[in-house]
Amino acid sequence: MTEIRNLRQLSLFPTLADDNNSLSRFSFSHEDVCAQDERIALEERYAEFLEETSKFNRKLVSYQGNKGAIIHGWIKYREGFSAQLVEDLIREFRIEPGGKVLDPFSGSSTTLLVAKSMGIDAVGIEIMSVCHLAWEAKSIFYEYDLGELKQIRAWLVDSQTEKAEARFPHITITESAFPPEAEHAIMFYTHWVENLDVSKAAKTLLRLILTSILEEVSYTRKDGQYLRWDYRPEKVRERNRIRQSQGKKPIKKVDLGPLPSVKEALVSAFDIVIADIRKLQELPFRQSHQELIKGNSMYVLPTLEPNQFDAVITSPPYCNRYDYTRTYALELAYLGEGDGIFDLRQNLLSCTVENRSKLNLLQEHYKAFGRGDRFDEILQTVWKNAAFQEINRALQNRWERGDMNNRGVLRMVEQYFTELTFIFAELLRICKPGARVAFVNDNVRYGGEVIPVDLLTTDLAVNLGFEPVKIYVLPQRKGNSSQQMSRFGREALRKSITVWRKPNGKQVHSSHSGELQSLVP
Ligand SMILES: C[S@@+](CC[C@H](N)C(=O)[O-])C[C@H]1O[C@@H](n2cnc3c(N)ncnc32)[C@H](O)[C@@H]1O
Repeated sequence: MTEIRNLRQLSLFPTLADDNNSLSRFSFSHEDVCAQDERIALEERYAEFLEETSKFNRKLVSYQGNKGAIIHGWIKYREGFSAQLVEDLIREFRIEPGGKVLDPFSGSSTTLLVAKSMGIDAVGIEIMSVCHLAWEAKSIFYEYDLGELKQIRAWLVDSQTEKAEARFPHITITESAFPPEAEHAIMFYTHWVENLDVSKAAKTLLRLILTSILEEVSYTRKDGQYLRWDYRPEKVRERNRIRQSQGKKPIKKVDLGPLPSVKEALVSAFDIVIADIRKLQELPFRQSHQELIKGNSMYVLPTLEPNQFDAVITSPPYCNRYDYTRTYALELAYLGEGDGIFDLRQNLLSCTVENRSKLNLLQEHYKAFGRGDRFDEILQTVWKNAAFQEINRALQNRWERGDMNNRGVLRMVEQYFTELTFIFAELLRICKPGARVAFVNDNVRYGGEVIPVDLLTTDLAVNLGFEPVKIYVLPQRKGNSSQQMSRFGREALRKSITVWRKPNGKQVHSSHSGELQSLVP
């Protein structure tokens, strides 16, 4: 591994006074309501691997780090990590051209694009169509004919927006998201693009640009779990009238100010894209192969050949209730996925309170591959993990005490770690011996119970046979939801990059204990 600069190894046994900012944590349950021995044991077991580093800061692990970066800004994917982070990890893991990297939660394909720019092969898996459109358009940057793109831009500038025949394919949650003239213009330009006599590549690019401006010309903004709405749409005003008639406070007013016209937004997005393509086409280009597979990683990974990847660099959905199908509802509806949105939500790694168990389907899948026994082993690994059991019991206890307002969180947490364990088990199988696996994730807190996602996932990975290498902790900790803060006070939570290694000779560690049974009925 290359030398890591700017590392700061902090004291592993800080005083309680600085517990909030220290690396290790000694208190997991607000006012010691629930047992926490197993979580404390996790901290002790992995303390030597925790390392705070300013090399990976908050900006770098988030989309913010991509500001101004060529190609990565073509569509704002706020859940993404930065290209710089991927490049740093690829260099740290010493992956060279000829090597092969995997991202099983590919999102806007940051990992694939960085791999491409470095001449490294890569495979991504992603479930959302909007990400696939982004990849289709970005991955062919060297094919675009700049002369053709400039011609299209000139036509676009000269175009006169007319009333469109077709209607925006709304779903319930997107209704009234656009001012009527914007909605007409979106559909007018959709039709305009379809009828342009230009190359297939240019049409793909234009579809991405149209998709990328939807939020900007709408009354909505993506905001974590939800879409935030401007006060102007009739739907929002009606909701407020109802609230007022019920004596409730109106929803906090959001004013997005003047919105750009669709044509203005298109031209300005197109200008950025053309400028990026010009710069990219001037760079030396090394042939390599990348592929983005559409589907649910839980089902796709078991179908991949063993021992093929040199590294995994990824960031799964966090265990934070963020629902991608809601925040990307405009884009998904526009791309014709509206009817499938329920199934899509159910197929996400369980990160919302609405996710149901996928275990029966997954078991069928493993059986179909003649690997039913492996399914049972993986399930035992997670269900017998002592810290996992403690967390599930603590949440159950909190629910019974009335410390939580949504029981779905219990199921989400149990499913989240169960599903990730299946992902880890498959990564172990398909990685080459010696390969590194990096996961970016946030710790979370529910009902006053801290869930050390970084250490629990590391423990599960170790139980399966990985070796821990490092748990990089970002200097900036994560805050809590206002609800958690008001009821349980502030607790700074780690944001981490866990790095594991597949051993050269397969070793399986185990720290199992207890009964094999689901704790959430
Ligand atoms: C945190 S984002 C990854 C962002 C990515 N690192 C980037 O730079 O854009 C997690 C991604 O996982 C995808 N996802 C969620 N569940 C999935 C599943 N079961 N299979 C495949 N992809 C999934 C989501 O659609 C989302 O794009």
